[in-house]
Amino acid sequence: DMKRRPLVLANWKMNMTPSQVLPYLDQVIPEVEKDTGADVAIAAQDLYLAQMVKATTNTRLAIAAENAHWTDEGAYTGETSPKALAEIGVSYVLIGHFERRKLFNETDERVNLKTKAALKNGLKVIVDLDEDMSTYDTVNPNNVVLAQLRAALAGISAEELDQVAIAYEPTWAIGSGEAASATAAQKAAVLIRQSLKNLYSAGVAEKIRILYGGSVTTKNAAAFLSQNDIDGVLVGKAALDPKQFLELIDIAQATH
Ligand code: G3P
Repeated sequence: DMKRRPLVLANWKMNMTPSQVLPYLDQVIPEVEKDTGADVAIAAQDLYLAQMVKATTNTRLAIAAENAHWTDEGAYTGETSPKALAEIGVSYVLIGHFERRKLFNETDERVNLKTKAALKNGLKVIVDLDEDMSTYDTVNPNNVVLAQLRAALAGISAEELDQVAIAYEPTWAIGSGEAASATAAQKAAVLIRQSLKNLYSAGVAEKIRILYGGSVTTKNAAAFLSQNDIDGVLVGKAALDPKQFLELIDIAQATH
């Protein structure tokens, strides 16, 4: 079958204390080393990233930032440079997460600039789309998610898109304990893929990974990951527990 390689991405958000970081990694790395059927990454707050990269050197576990600035350097007090992230060995960056958009006023334009800056520096990007698509059946120009998608990818070439994955996280499902149904998530992924086909080509749309996020658990993950157009999961709360994170990776492999 033509399924894309799954990506299991933990988003720790602003959780985990400094003393919890290495024990978590020590627990998951040996297992992740055996899990060759999925790509695995953890997004953490900037403060932990250098230490995490060091602890995962030459392992299959990749490290992600939760945000990055749209320029490489300058007078931007309190911000993090994508160039610096790349230089210390961070692999991925999450751009446009719901919490960034809603709590830190991240606009579509900034999501686009940040995506470009991250790609230019060789980081892989997960572009996060965060509105509800459950009421849409076709590629509708008023669809907020697809508008976010178009804006995020403006000026990004098909070749650059090789380094991009899309995450669909319906607002109400984030941290609520109420995930979307697998059928609704699949429907949204199909519309996103259809839209990518219109923006780029069928080949590009077939290759790109689309993740579902929002209250993913070890109980519902298999239903999402066995959908044809869902190629991974973006996991907040459940992934704070290393055991559950490992179980999610096993599920991703078993369903692909
Ligand atoms: O980025 C993942 C996150 O937004 C989902 O969080 O806790 O609902 O899995 P959670």
